[in-house]
Amino acid sequence: MIFTVLTLFPGIFDSPLRESITKKAVEKGLISFNIANIREYADDAHKTCDDAPYGGGPGMVMKIEPIYRAMAHLEKTMGRPRYILLSPQGRIFDEETAIRYSHIKHLCLVCGRYEGLDERVLDLVDEEVSIGDYVLSGGEIPALVLIDAITRCIPGVLGNEQSSVDESFSRGLLEYPQYTRPDVFMDMEVPPVLLSGNHEEIRKWRRKEALKKTIFKRPDLMNRFTPTDEDRKMIREIMEEMPG
Ligand code: ADE
Repeated sequence: MIFTVLTLFPGIFDSPLRESITKKAVEKGLISFNIANIREYADDAHKTCDDAPYGGGPGMVMKIEPIYRAMAHLEKTMGRPRYILLSPQGRIFDEETAIRYSHIKHLCLVCGRYEGLDERVLDLVDEEVSIGDYVLSGGEIPALVLIDAITRCIPGVLGNEQSSVDESFSRGLLEYPQYTRPDVFMDMEVPPVLLSGNHEEIRKWRRKEALKKTIFKRPDLMNRFTPTDEDRKMIREIMEEMPG
């Protein structure tokens, strides 16, 4: 899968993509990056990429022409990608969207900056995506968030394929609690079942704890979750165990 990024600040992408999961995915040949500087596509001597807003008002607006030219160059050299504009006005990004994007051969993430972007850029892109209801200084950090989440969904990236099987099985639930040595730290004990060596009991405990965590911490996630018969039984037990 190819990630192209159109940005005025290509340096933001230097180190995050050269660490950890994304670095390994590049080394395995599963993903590659094409970070393009929009400024290189400005056609005046000053490489102007922003201008004052029509109608007046504060701040500057990112111009459409450099973005259009960057896209035209991309399409000529690599074919047309799917264009995603990062913007606080977009649809909220979630795991389901990450999975959907992970099947696309070439994604182009378009990063807006400054106080705004010429509205006509919306006509050039396929989708507009937000990473949450807050305003960041630009689309670069959201683009990194998408790249990380999408990369994790590509088969072979996480190495341990079982972990993605586990994740898809529990998709929609929060993770069960994890512990490692020591088994007692300042009077805080690891749940004994995890030291029992009984794999079936451990599986059941983990499932119930994942359900419990989700019910109490993120009850909204339960609306979209389809429980198995075993889950239903566990949910009943969790409710019965609740004080009061
Ligand atoms: N650009 C600025 N804020 C953003 C957000 N929350 N999501 C995506 N792009 C953005």
